[in-house]
Amino acid sequence: MRRPSGWWRSPKPLVFGVCLVPLALLVLDGFQGRLGANPVETITHATGLWGLRLLLLTLSITPLRRLCGWNRLIAYRRMLGLFAFFYASLHLSTYLVFDQFFDLRAIWDDVLERPYITLGFSAFVLLVPLAVTSTNGWIRRLGKRWVTLHKLIYPAAILVSAHFLWLVKADYRESGIYALILALLLGYRLLPVRTGKRRRSRTAQANGAMGRVSR
Ligand code: HEM
Repeated sequence: MRRPSGWWRSPKPLVFGVCLVPLALLVLDGFQGRLGANPVETITHATGLWGLRLLLLTLSITPLRRLCGWNRLIAYRRMLGLFAFFYASLHLSTYLVFDQFFDLRAIWDDVLERPYITLGFSAFVLLVPLAVTSTNGWIRRLGKRWVTLHKLIYPAAILVSAHFLWLVKADYRESGIYALILALLLGYRLLPVRTGKRRRSRTAQANGAMGRVSR
């Protein structure tokens, strides 16, 4: 049987391009003066939402593989996770530069005094080591500890979700839906897995398989 060729065989560049679309649309809106009355708020919201969405997509890879057998999805998990971090960094930069004008004192006061900023800040701190150690070199160097370290994605996602829930003042529908999706994705991981599958997953983890391990 002929193997599929072109982008379909390796759609990584396509997925990479799709992950950049929200940023491209934001830049386009900026050039066309369509960022609304408060552009900083619009950018903060869009980048924060995409950070969260990509984090949830990253966490959905393992359940999708187990439920649907789409094992090839694993090839995209690292990219999705790094894009989540990329949007979270844009989100944080917007806050630091355009909201607080790099006033370190005011930023620190915000972190201490506003619980939703504390939660967002803590989430970002947890995401940093995940992004830094996402390279093949770090995966090799850390071995089994890499798998343990990358479990930080769970508390990070919970903190992001709490950050979103906390900052909402009245309508909890949107933040609630994201929190529910996260609860389902995390809850799924608590379900017992058939021993054979668990053994296979452990073997994959032990092999340290360059971002292909189960998370
Ligand atoms: C130091 C870290 C962070 C700071 C200072 C921060 C700050 C903010 C601010 C100022 C807002 C807007 C609040 C408002 O509308 O009143 C916001 C909203 C939001 N942030 Fe963060 N954030 C941080 C980390 C994160 C991270 C790591 C993520 C996701 C990966 C995230 C996701 C969100 C989401 C989803 C929203 C709501 C967007 C919306 O209202 O549509 N934040 N954040």
